Amino acid sequence: MAEFDLSANFIPSLHKPSSLLPIARHRQNLLYLIETYPVTIVVGQTGSGKTTQIPQYLEQAGWCSDGKVIAVTQPRRVAATTVAIRVAEEVGCKVGEEVGYSIRFEDVTSAATRIKFLTDGLLLREALVDPLLSRYSVIMVDEAHERSLSTDVLLGVLKKILKKRPNDLRIIISSATLQAEDFLRFFTGDTDLKSKPTDSDAMTLDDLITQASTGAGKSAVSGTIINLEGRMYPVDVLYSESSVEDYIEKAVQTVFDIHTKEPDGDILVFLTGREEIDTAVQAISERAANLHPRAQGLMALPLCAGLSTEQQMYVFEEAPENTRKVIFSTNIAEASVTIDGIVYVVDSGFVKLRAFNPLTGIETLTATPVSKASATQRAGRAGRTKPGKCYRLYTEASFQSLEETTVPEIQRSNLAPVILQLKALGIDNIVRFDFLTSPPAELIIRALELLYSLGALDDYAKLTKPLGTRMAELAVEPMMAKTLLSAPSFNCLSEILTIAAMTSLGGNIWVQPDGEKKSMESPRRKFAVEEGDQLTLLNVYQAFITKGKKEGRFCHDNYINFKAMTRAVSIRAQLKRYLERFGMKVEETLSSNANKQPLAVGGPDKAEQIRRCLTAGFFAHAAKMQPDGTFRNVAGGTILHAHPSSLMFNRKADWVIFHEVMETGNKTFIRDVTKIEKGWLVEYAAGYYKIQ
Ligand code: CDP
Ligand code: MG
Repeated sequence: MAEFDLSANFIPSLHKPSSLLPIARHRQNLLYLIETYPVTIVVGQTGSGKTTQIPQYLEQAGWCSDGKVIAVTQPRRVAATTVAIRVAEEVGCKVGEEVGYSIRFEDVTSAATRIKFLTDGLLLREALVDPLLSRYSVIMVDEAHERSLSTDVLLGVLKKILKKRPNDLRIIISSATLQAEDFLRFFTGDTDLKSKPTDSDAMTLDDLITQASTGAGKSAVSGTIINLEGRMYPVDVLYSESSVEDYIEKAVQTVFDIHTKEPDGDILVFLTGREEIDTAVQAISERAANLHPRAQGLMALPLCAGLSTEQQMYVFEEAPENTRKVIFSTNIAEASVTIDGIVYVVDSGFVKLRAFNPLTGIETLTATPVSKASATQRAGRAGRTKPGKCYRLYTEASFQSLEETTVPEIQRSNLAPVILQLKALGIDNIVRFDFLTSPPAELIIRALELLYSLGALDDYAKLTKPLGTRMAELAVEPMMAKTLLSAPSFNCLSEILTIAAMTSLGGNIWVQPDGEKKSMESPRRKFAVEEGDQLTLLNVYQAFITKGKKEGRFCHDNYINFKAMTRAVSIRAQLKRYLERFGMKVEETLSSNANKQPLAVGGPDKAEQIRRCLTAGFFAHAAKMQPDGTFRNVAGGTILHAHPSSLMFNRKADWVIFHEVMETGNKTFIRDVTKIEKGWLVEYAAGYYKIQ
């Protein structure tokens, strides 16, 4: 008789039952505390179930009974979408029904939505229309320890809202680290608060609820901390013997070492960005071909912002039989998304951080050494399901010299967008706003200067009407908002709308042809417009609208990313709706030149109007080309290079404006560059350049 075949008779469950998660034991306590205290701080290891379970507990406990919604904010778009998909699966609905998500330019919710995941920035934006966020009964600020710019601002705004809704709003702050006391102190406003993180195992329920109520002043809010002890397996930390020159190469080698020498278990590698991740994934795929044919396979996957939802979901799937999965990720995997089955972590020791220099006005995204807290959190990712190992691609001495925690984003960001939003929320005195950590004065001053020169603020630093209020409402950064709102006077609104949509995409519109890197230039050249990248983007969009949507092969033949273009169409439509709400009429100007190939962008006059209009918004991002082909900004101090993806790479220009500036390694690149005339800067930004 044939042996009983286990695997033929049992199907593995789709998910580990949520009742086995560490958080399950705390369910009653959690609900009790949330019921009792306006503010509850939840501390728990990544993977303990905070993000996916708490909203479900709340929903089941009746927090949505009167049509109210539970909001869960995430600092990252990727986290908001993946988590919503997961929770919808657990609840057994489609995303957008009971469980939905909302991120900039993508709202997947409906009237039926009870649990809504959204970025913290988007919730702030909602406060513009619903200042008390009255549709939410509970707002959970997730991943608060990351201290993203929007999280910090949101916490300040929520503190204000809570004063007006002391009885019907509950706030939950979830954090993977022990910054909990800072959060509690911030809300309760009591500096002497004797609240210790609660280990709810060791205490009775009575002990729990006597914690941390400030009691005294009427205006003071009471709050509590609950600590969800999650189970953690030991992680061996191994350091590099000597300092590492090229951490990408070293990471790839380390992955192969683990793969050939260590027992089963997936690998998670922390790198800093998309390009590094692509390089590493490709290196693995190429070299994996040299593995012994009968050896276990190695499958490399990327995880970073800018991937499509499907691409993101691959990393959560189990690898095929006899294959080890290696995921190359940005900081996303440090705390906000959990991937099961990781036993080995390889930590480059770097993270890409935004930093804004108030002197040059240049925002950079620079690979920076991580903090100790970050490194510890990364190592922890290896010990979730069994004992693991973490390979640090730096020496122990380097680790010792790291900062304890990462500087909050609010202390190193361009504050113009958030100040514009705070002003629109009626918070005029930015300096006196209750920030968890105050931003440095130079950053505030710089932002106010920019907003003033864009015409969003008046001489008294009050929001102008309608320009300032409209700029705050538009879901694009202030310089682009100004460009859009100026477009009617340059008679190019339709074109600027397209450019705004195309530059807001965040992803690449070009598809890299497999293995033939060099030929990339030619398809792109077909759409190139002499005056620069913005007009080229406009050209691509117009070609897509007229041909690409109908001809299946158009995108394929021209190496254009169909999905990105579809997204651009949707973003454009949304921006158009904002403008129409302001009473602006958008006359679509595409039809006149619809059948020329390549499409001319409306003739020389139109092109000039577009460039003038871009100057009116982006004058603060002006630069002049030097004889050696690099650029200098107006202040003169910074050497800028046209990014290789730019048309201005290797081309002659005089003055230009650019959309973005990014520092990689020791070079500063500008992206989306358009030629302008020097005189226009004086014409549209005389005040700004006098300030300098
Ligand atoms: O928020 P926290 O880090 O405390 O945990 P969570 O994200 O709620 O994750 C709880 C469990 O769900 C973990 O075992 C995750 O691995 C799993 N999960 C998953 O498999 N896929 C997702 N997209 C999200 C969570
Ligand atoms: Mg979470």
